[in-house]
Amino acid sequence: MSVVQKEISVYKGIPAMTTPEVHAYLNEMGRGWTGAGTAIEVGCWLGATSAALLDGLVEAGYNKPFWAFDRWRANSAEVRKASEYDVSLHIEQDLAPLYQKNVSSIYPNLNTIKGSIPEKLHFYNGEPIEVCLFDAPKRNPVFHDSIRFCEPYFIPGVTVLGLLDYYFYKRCRGTQNKKDWARFLAPVNFIEKYSESFTLMKEFPDNSSCAFFKYEKPIAWKQ
Ligand SMILES: C[S@@+](CC[C@H](N)C(=O)[O-])C[C@H]1O[C@@H](n2cnc3c(N)ncnc32)[C@H](O)[C@@H]1O
Repeated sequence: MSVVQKEISVYKGIPAMTTPEVHAYLNEMGRGWTGAGTAIEVGCWLGATSAALLDGLVEAGYNKPFWAFDRWRANSAEVRKASEYDVSLHIEQDLAPLYQKNVSSIYPNLNTIKGSIPEKLHFYNGEPIEVCLFDAPKRNPVFHDSIRFCEPYFIPGVTVLGLLDYYFYKRCRGTQNKKDWARFLAPVNFIEKYSESFTLMKEFPDNSSCAFFKYEKPIAWKQ
């Protein structure tokens, strides 16, 4: 893994790399589903954030596929983190079955797409997207290619973009000397560059690293 050192947490028994405050916000966001589009998550791990969002979506009557993208191949950091909640994984384990088991009891209509993004995003069927959570695209070119792929399906004034590792990098900006570190600022640089297309809805700068933005209008892409 990288410089990322998230707190490990849990949602309904599923080890999570996000905090209970974020899970509560995802519940609330799901309950606010308008019916205009699908929900997708890119970087789902064992399903805690998917489950938190889906709990709310189900309450709101969500009836579309839930799109989940991940390579679902356990690395050493994931094995160690899961063990903190007595979930035993092994390196290179295919985590897709565990994800499906954890999430399908909440909502069975899952489109789980296993493999590397951004390439695997091309399996998306092109429906309008109402909720888009990113917890895998963090560096360029992966972040740029992923958001470029998804943005044409965003709905102005409706879509929520969740960048789940936003503040970890933002608050460390300028403090790190490690080679390559600045590449993790891709999501922060993106939001700052295209600030006219997004408004901040909710941020967790202290007890998490997530930030959620409302997509207001199409992006005027610059070089
Ligand atoms: C931080 S974890 C997601 C944690 C989850 N949202 C939670 O809070 O519990 C990031 C996930 O992204 C996946 N991932 C990272 N880079 C990826 C890539 N290029 N393609 C596909 N999946 C990737 C990893 O396999 C991992 O499961």
